[in-house]
Amino acid sequence: MAYSVENYLSYGYNCYMQKYKIITYGCQMNLHESEKAAGILRGLGYEECEREEDADLILFNTCCIRDNAERRAKGNIGAAKVFKRSKPQLIIAVMGCMTQQSGAGEEMAKKFPFVDIVLGANNIDKLGECVQKVREDREKSVLIDPCMTPEIHEDTPVYRTSGTNAWLNIMYGCNNFCTYCIVPYVRGRERSRKLCNVTDEFKRLIDEGYKEVTLLGQNVNSYGNDLGMKNGFARLLEQISLIKGDFRVRFMTSHPKDLNEEIVDIIASSPNICNNIHLPVQSGSDKILKLMNRHYTRDHYLSLIDMIRDKMPDCGITSDIMVAFPQEDDQDFADTLDLVEKVRYSGAFTFVYSPRKGTPAAAMPQVPKEVAKARIVELVAVQNRIVKQISAQMVGKTVRVLCEDVAPKGEGLVCGRSECGRMVTFPGAKTDIGKFFNVRINSGKSASLFGEVSE
Ligand code: 5AD
Ligand code: SF4
Repeated sequence: MAYSVENYLSYGYNCYMQKYKIITYGCQMNLHESEKAAGILRGLGYEECEREEDADLILFNTCCIRDNAERRAKGNIGAAKVFKRSKPQLIIAVMGCMTQQSGAGEEMAKKFPFVDIVLGANNIDKLGECVQKVREDREKSVLIDPCMTPEIHEDTPVYRTSGTNAWLNIMYGCNNFCTYCIVPYVRGRERSRKLCNVTDEFKRLIDEGYKEVTLLGQNVNSYGNDLGMKNGFARLLEQISLIKGDFRVRFMTSHPKDLNEEIVDIIASSPNICNNIHLPVQSGSDKILKLMNRHYTRDHYLSLIDMIRDKMPDCGITSDIMVAFPQEDDQDFADTLDLVEKVRYSGAFTFVYSPRKGTPAAAMPQVPKEVAKARIVELVAVQNRIVKQISAQMVGKTVRVLCEDVAPKGEGLVCGRSECGRMVTFPGAKTDIGKFFNVRINSGKSASLFGEVSE
């Protein structure tokens, strides 16, 4: 079924524009899926509003990767009950990874009976249908069974809100089953979009004026395996590098077990593909990597870093790093710190391991909370020091920046990322958004860099 304004009008709703508010938790994948939800809702005649209290439909797009993400979402869903009291016609919908966990839909319906629609992360395309059903019968509570191997819906509308940067899914799901991670259980097995569908959407985005496209997948390096392609991600990057225009491409996330030399060669030789690789290491200890089921060793990881730096000396390499995975002892943690010192990431997301029900690691002996706390503090301090040093080294250099927005602080300032992924703030105006600038860095004391446009 197509969601269009005609479709909406044919249902005979009155002329008052119904309003939606989407609240998103979690990763870029979720942010992009909220754009799809927005596309569906707009097709039904809804328009966006800023505040939950003005909405006729509130949609929570949830995340369950760590306990705090889940708790935050649940707290806010619970709080939405008050809006329903003053506006009984309000539709409340919950979707995303949290609802996709086994038994979570039923639990949700029991705990939050005022919620009208519960959708799994894999059946967002059912959102329009569910909203129609609820609008026709307000007594009905819709619960959709999570579907683990859904087809790819190429016709889901997307309402992009990401400014000059567009997200583009190249694949869904994950086959890796890292022992700490809930994603394969909630997102199902890897499903790649056909190469022609990805490149067609890519070209459309460039025609529409987007200047940066970020290719999304849980493990982009295994793109195409399920389609029988050999080194499919390399093939995809090759095709994209042939597209003409003034734009650039990023991608995430890479898995160290699948990133190979051919992929790095294509990145290095394609001017439009950013020299920026997010390559989560998770731990610097072989013992922990094995327990995590990561399928690479510390030495293999470090050899990948050498290979990348050899071909792209200025490549921005970032990571996800976890502390206090079950059985991580002082030596394992010291190995992580040592790896961080060796790699010198230009940025890293750091996490305390959070047990997820149903994953193998949740049943392993856990590290005490106080130890975890001390380790994350130490890791963050080491990484911050390294970022500061890298920032200081960038002073005096000129980098190409895509102006993405006005700077959150300071009149007359704009900001955007350099090719290697660093955020740079510089003097400019709203009209500069969407343009590329060569910016000379003149100060960089922490993670943020400041500069001015140079000719
Ligand atoms: N606890 C803490 N961090 C986790 N991640 C995934 N699962 C967990 C968990 N159970 C982190 C990993 C991953 C990133 C997206 O989230 O570092 O790369
Ligand atoms: Fe989770 Fe591992 Fe898959 Fe990433 S690769 S989504 S960490 S299971």
